[in-house]
Amino acid sequence: MLGLGVWQVRDGRECERAVAWALELGYRLIDTAQAYGNESSVGRAIRNSGVPREDIFLTTKFYPGGKDPRVEAEKSLARLGTDYLDLYLIHWPQGGPTWAWAGMEAASEAGLTKGVGISNFGAAELQELLKVSQIQPAVNQILFSPFDYRRALVEAGADAGVVSQAYSPLGTGRHLGDPAVERIASAAGRTPAQVLIRWAIQKGLSVIPKSTHRERIEANFDVFDFELDEQSISALDSLDTTHQTADALAQRQKWWS
Ligand code: A2P
Repeated sequence: MLGLGVWQVRDGRECERAVAWALELGYRLIDTAQAYGNESSVGRAIRNSGVPREDIFLTTKFYPGGKDPRVEAEKSLARLGTDYLDLYLIHWPQGGPTWAWAGMEAASEAGLTKGVGISNFGAAELQELLKVSQIQPAVNQILFSPFDYRRALVEAGADAGVVSQAYSPLGTGRHLGDPAVERIASAAGRTPAQVLIRWAIQKGLSVIPKSTHRERIEANFDVFDFELDEQSISALDSLDTTHQTADALAQRQKWWS
């Protein structure tokens, strides 16, 4: 439900420390990607943590500039120093939503990953994929926060049995200083980050905030002893700028097209 994302975390000491702290503080979901260039550090931190591998849920993502998801999964496993992934996602639908799926299924059939899924797929792309998939996509990881409340996309996922997972739940930090978020946080006696994370959880999503600071990693995980009331939830809902879209990103946000 709540994991550490390591997008934009530098390979080496910074990444190793963040993952080590997260595991020490109780996180059991770690989210990386081939494109992040930090899988080796994630793997080292996991191995040195003393937490059994089977207690950890490890996600990485196929970089769709590559050709063969199965071959690339093997390379990820070598960098991560583990013999399986829990979840392997197509990072974005570059070149269309279906071409990479057979290779994702091959990775699954070879036992390289327990689950396969997608990221940055809109509802129409998900529907295209469902027409050709033999293995059910488990997860769609999407840009999601009160400001990026893609309600129709989350509903399309739920209808198809796909779990939505929120990346950049803090707007990569931009939403933390928003006056409405600050007001709701101070009324609840929590931090803006905790309010944004809690909102995503109450919307039923799995959520992966990123931080490289120990005290923030700790505070971001401390969200299971309070609930946002209906008024706060609807005030946060009203911050949406996506018109509750079923698209994963606005056209101008699609960095690969
Ligand atoms: P840092 O890594 O220096 O702690 P998102 O998860 O939406 O991508 O947001 C990540 C950004 O938000 C990072 O810049 C991170 O900075 C910052 N951040 C994460 N947690 C907190 C927090 N609890 N308080 C303030 N900033 C935070």
